[in-house]
Amino acid sequence: MKKVENYSVSKDLLKDRVILITGAGQGLGRTAALTYANYGATVILHGRKVEKLERVYDEIEAIGKAQALIYPLDLAHAEDKDFIMIAQAIAQQLGRLDGILHNAAFLYGLSPLENQTVEQWRAMLQVNLITPFALTNACLPLLKMAPDASVIMTSSSHGHQPSAYWGGFTVAKAGIEALVKIQADEWETIPNLRINAVVPGIVNSPQRAKTHPGEIKQTMRQPEDLMSTYLYLMGPDSRGMSGQTVFCQSNE
Ligand SMILES: NC(=O)c1ccc[n+]([C@@H]2O[C@H](COP(=O)([O-])OP(=O)(O)OC[C@H]3O[C@@H](n4cnc5c(N)ncnc54)[C@H](OP(=O)(O)O)[C@@H]3O)[C@@H](O)[C@H]2O)c1
Repeated sequence: MKKVENYSVSKDLLKDRVILITGAGQGLGRTAALTYANYGATVILHGRKVEKLERVYDEIEAIGKAQALIYPLDLAHAEDKDFIMIAQAIAQQLGRLDGILHNAAFLYGLSPLENQTVEQWRAMLQVNLITPFALTNACLPLLKMAPDASVIMTSSSHGHQPSAYWGGFTVAKAGIEALVKIQADEWETIPNLRINAVVPGIVNSPQRAKTHPGEIKQTMRQPEDLMSTYLYLMGPDSRGMSGQTVFCQSNE
């Protein structure tokens, strides 16, 4: 369980790298996409709603960075073939993939287990756990060809300390950390592949506003405050680090 502090980098940290970000239309995903693009990467913006992705695309274009790609897909209904199609599109249009930030998340809302349904659990496990597994697998041939590929999965403090009302969401996040450890173990002999989990902590975002509507947004950490950790994990300085859970907030 690590924390990255005082990390400063040059603006070409991610130069020539191609990075796929899921859930890039808002919140942490949007900020990570803008940050990675700003540090030299070509980013593939995945999300469910095209309009949101187009807005991020325009923001990247406005700062004069490498042209992004947009790939909309509803993960709640995605199957193996859909993930393979993403990998094929990346291979055809960009010819390489150097990293994935698995950021997309779905929560039905907080409620006691006795009120949660199979349908809700299926959707939460599909978006939050099955997708990172399946999308990584589909992209593996591309990642294996990259000189220094980094996969980041997004966990949550609730994944460590499960508590009432978080139900299937927390079970999926706990599963993410197990998945990271299994995958890191299996990649131990492949030096150009690494995988880690990031735990954002409390951050102002549309998801946070949904689960904690009473909080004062202005006094919360903003997605930008976490980007040194996201850059460190995606860039070359974390090479050799794998199977770790990295906390963005010291009290987690
Ligand atoms: N914010 C926090 O305080 C906090 C704390 C701990 C962990 N995290 C984790 O950090 C990550 C980002 O959090 P956030 O607060 O920025 O989240 P957010 O604002 O809710 O954004 C989630 C993203 O996931 C996408 N998504 C949801 N369901 C999808 C589906 N079925 N198919 C495709 N895309 C889907 C959304 O796309 P559309 O907008 O296109 O629907 C959205 O861009 C998540 O993994 C979250 O669990 C956040």
